[in-house]
Amino acid sequence: MTTRILTGITTTGTPHLGNYAGAIRPAIRASLADDADSFYFLADYHALIKCDDPARIQRSRLEIAATWLASGLDPERVTFYRQSDIPEIPELTWLLTCVAGKGLLNRAHAYKAAVDRNLEQGEDPDAGVTMGLYSYPVLMAADILMFNAQRVPVGRDQIQHVEMARDIGQRFNHLFGNGRDYFALPEAVIEESVSTLPGLDGRKMSKSYDNTIPLFGSAKQLKDAIARIVTDSRLPGEPKDPDSAHLFTLYQAFATPEQSAAFRAALLDGLAWGEAKGQLFELLDAELGEARERYAALIARPDDLEDILLAGAAKARRYATPFLGELREAVGLRSLKTQVATGGAKKKASKTARFVSFRESDGSFRFRLLDADGTELALSIPFAEAKTAGITSKQLVTTPASVVAGEGNGFQLLLADQVVAEGVASDSPAARDALIERTRTALAQLAEA
Ligand code: TRP
Repeated sequence: MTTRILTGITTTGTPHLGNYAGAIRPAIRASLADDADSFYFLADYHALIKCDDPARIQRSRLEIAATWLASGLDPERVTFYRQSDIPEIPELTWLLTCVAGKGLLNRAHAYKAAVDRNLEQGEDPDAGVTMGLYSYPVLMAADILMFNAQRVPVGRDQIQHVEMARDIGQRFNHLFGNGRDYFALPEAVIEESVSTLPGLDGRKMSKSYDNTIPLFGSAKQLKDAIARIVTDSRLPGEPKDPDSAHLFTLYQAFATPEQSAAFRAALLDGLAWGEAKGQLFELLDAELGEARERYAALIARPDDLEDILLAGAAKARRYATPFLGELREAVGLRSLKTQVATGGAKKKASKTARFVSFRESDGSFRFRLLDADGTELALSIPFAEAKTAGITSKQLVTTPASVVAGEGNGFQLLLADQVVAEGVASDSPAARDALIERTRTALAQLAEA
């Protein structure tokens, strides 16, 4: 069975070499695994929280989409989309906002840091804090829970947000699940093997330090950036210590073990820094040269990129739209044609038979048929896709299904002679026949609803 992996990229900047080595390359590699069902998206709603420059948002969306595709992401294999093309996400954000504790969000690092800064400066604690910043973790929880992601690769600064998504999802399950876990609880995945790349000055490569190496700039820009890598002042011929040279760390991140060993030996042997930079350039140019051409071609055809992203959104919504329908149903945003639950202060106790679908820990999808009073009548076979499970349960209602006695004192639900669900076993033929009768009634009830 597959594992659903999901991550978002905030669209506020232009990806640099550090983003490539730390996030893009490992994500693309992970998407190639046989059991990976990967969702990668441009977190452009999140970008609005940090950036009020529309031109920059637009430019960054284009550049990031082109970067991922040029780097080898296959949009046929993964689901690649823009957050803002999925209207179900803001809708789910609201449902989750209504269950997320304010106290939980008070503890979010990014918000707390803003408050601390304000207090230090003698300002109002919330000066300059928007509701967007405050609710950032809820939007992120919606991104993750919308697709029932199991694994979420993120940087360390985002672990807390994934944990909040778990908390919020769990709370929703508890309040509205009625025995069903609507949301899988996600886990943050930190790639220990991927070291953060040092920048030109040896600190972590980051736009805020202005020490980045461009990813898909021209070969000349790459060469110029490499020329600015800070080294010690050892002269050509003097032995250099590879382990204290971040130039070596950069080289290693892109080299085979053999190449690294040779480079290390050459440095120890007195290779001039100028030469060493030349070798680093050759290495990077070999890895990135072709992708750079693909990048330029993609950027030149924004219409094609737009089409790819819209196709990705359509693919994502095939999952999101029906699932959000179930969530609306769960919280009570239902058609008025379904019988209104009346009576007692406590909700629930829906008065008709119903299907309850869920996801198994192995990733497959099933549903149960429940009687009006909540008794389980039957359990479906596992389905690889949520959609097929949904279609099958609908067919049981709309096309006459056969409910037939099976082995032991069990029974089965058949569609076109295929067993699609097993009835609950009884301890006598009479009890079984009664259950079969209840099952038929339940299906008939559903057909009328
Ligand atoms: N907040 C993440 C970041 O800044 C980006 C992001 C948005 C994200 N939604 C997500 C990451 C969902 C993982 C899952 O890096």
